[in-house]
Formats: sequence, structure tokens, C-alpha cells
Amino acid sequence: MSLGSDDLTTTLCNSIQALGRGFDVTSDIRLLYCKGATGSRLVHIDEEHARDLDISHELVLPSVSFDIDCSPGKRSIERIPVCSFHESGGPDWDVKLGRVDSLSTSQEDSNNIMPSPRANASLLIDLFERFNLSVKDLVALSGSHSIGQARCFSIIFRLYNQSGSGGPDPMIETKYREKLNKLCPLGGDENVTGDLDATPTKFDNGYFKDLVAGRGFLNSDQTLYTFPETRKYVTLFSKNQQAFFRAFVEGMIKMGDLQSGRPGEIRSSCRMANSRPVRALMESQVRD
Ligand code: HEM
Repeated sequence: MSLGSDDLTTTLCNSIQALGRGFDVTSDIRLLYCKGATGSRLVHIDEEHARDLDISHELVLPSVSFDIDCSPGKRSIERIPVCSFHESGGPDWDVKLGRVDSLSTSQEDSNNIMPSPRANASLLIDLFERFNLSVKDLVALSGSHSIGQARCFSIIFRLYNQSGSGGPDPMIETKYREKLNKLCPLGGDENVTGDLDATPTKFDNGYFKDLVAGRGFLNSDQTLYTFPETRKYVTLFSKNQQAFFRAFVEGMIKMGDLQSGRPGEIRSSCRMANSRPVRALMESQVRD
């Protein structure tokens, strides 16, 4: 399809509007909470100082921030499929604003609660319970793996040495295992990525259908079908997409309401603690 020059201008203007807002398959779901007010950006772009931007001799875009430039670059086609959460078909919910975030960041703190792809359902149930998230929340939120990819690194043990057995996880369906073996050969590049379900750009209940068929990518995914406590929800969601969407929204709202109880602040940019005058920062360090 070829675009007329009006269409092209609209498309380019929309692309410029989207810059810095964090819309992609991954961040859309994970950063939804920090996007804040409509139109806010994750990356600061000076909106006040603008000029007309020359894209080519026939095409000039009006009122583009000085922070955004156009580089002619090489002609190439972007092959990585990226679409917005809405394009991918997920459910809607109202995102609450004004919750407090941490005053600093800690890799250790996040490692302590980040579930491992090797985890089994009973471990995951315990972990989610620590945050008042139910078994149903766990299964529904795992349905987030209906979109996106993971690295071979996350499944290599599962393919070649599950639980120290020296063999693969017996729960993987044979044809799917052959496919994963090709994608992630032993000794191969563990940064190669594979789809988390058969329709990785579409947010649907295909993930759960895959689990029922033994085609879960991560051990932590497949285990949800192996364990009786979680299996009933996998079965339900595999048959009823609306039930999945309802439970997913409930889980996302509960997860978004979590607060640590530690001192915090409402961030002006979700990606970093609010800036403080250096003097105040030094004083607070001394007090701590
Ligand atoms: C239940 C426990 C969970 C485990 C063990 C888990 C583990 C993982 C792992 C290992 C990856 C791939 C990372 C890599 O190989 O680089 C991944 C990707 C992903 N996870 Fe989870 N996850 C869990 C729950 C969640 C939840 C609750 C959400 C959001 C609600 C989520 C959203 C995602 C998304 C969207 C991706 C794809 C990222 C991409 O394509 O770049 N996960 N997860």
C-alpha cells in the first residue's frame, strides 16, 4: 500500500506524538501504571520550543520540538513487530494515579521478589500470597505472557536438564520441544528469543490454550497446568477469554495498589525518583 502525502504527514505527526511515551508491546503492559496523565511522556521532550521539520524536499512537518531531529539514515525495513496494547487486543481498565513510589532504587530488592522462570506453581502461589494476590490472580496475571518473548537462557535447563534429571521437562509436548531444541540448542546463544505463546502480538487466551496443549514456553508457565490448584483456572481461561480478561483486570488493579509501607513519593517521572536540591539530598543522607 502506498501512502498519499497527507496520509504520510498524519502518520509521521502521530509517530512524533508517540515518541517518548513508552508504547510498545512490553512496556505498554508493564509501564501502564506510570504513564500518568493523558499525553504525558516517559522521556522529557521540550514541547515549547518548536520549528518546522524538513523531512524531505516535499515534506515539512509543522511544530516539531527542537529535541526531535530527522536523520536521513539508511533505507531499511523494520521487521520487529511492535504494536500498542490496544492494537494487541487487551482489556481496558482505569489506572489510578497518585500512588507513592520508592525514593531510591535497589536491584537487590527487586531480585528478592522477582519470580524465577524455573519456579513451580507452589512456589509462585506462596510468592503471590505474600502480596495478598490469590491463586486466581497468579494465573490471570501470568496470562500477560500472552504477549512478548523470552530468552533461551530462561528455558535451557528445562530443555536439557530439568530438575537435574539430565533430560527435558516431560510436560513439554514433543513437537513443541523439537521446535524449542532447534531455537535453543545446548551451547548455543542464550540471548536468542522465542515467543511466549503462539500469538505473541495478540493479547488473548491463546497462552492458556497453549498451556493445555503442553506448549508453555517457561517452566513457570507450564507448571500452572501441572498443578491441580492452578490448573482449574488455566482450563477456565483457555475456554473463556472474557473470564480471563475480567480476572486479569482485577489482578492488575490489585497489583497496582500494592504499597511497601516505606516512605515514598509521587514521581513526576515514573522512571526516576523526583529530583531534589543537592543540599536537601545531602541532609537526608546524613539523617538516614
Ligand atoms: C508468575 C510469575 C512470572 C514469572 C516467573 C515471569 C518470568 C518471566 C521471564 C523469565 C520472562 C522473559 C525474560 C527473559 O528471558 O529475558 C518474562 C517476560 C515477560 N513477562 Fe513475566 N513473569 C511472571 C509474571 C509476569 C507478570 C505478572 C507480568 C505482567 C502482568 C509479566 C509480564 C511479562 C511480559 C510482558 C514479558 C515479555 C517481555 C518481552 O517481550 O520483552 N510477567 N517473564
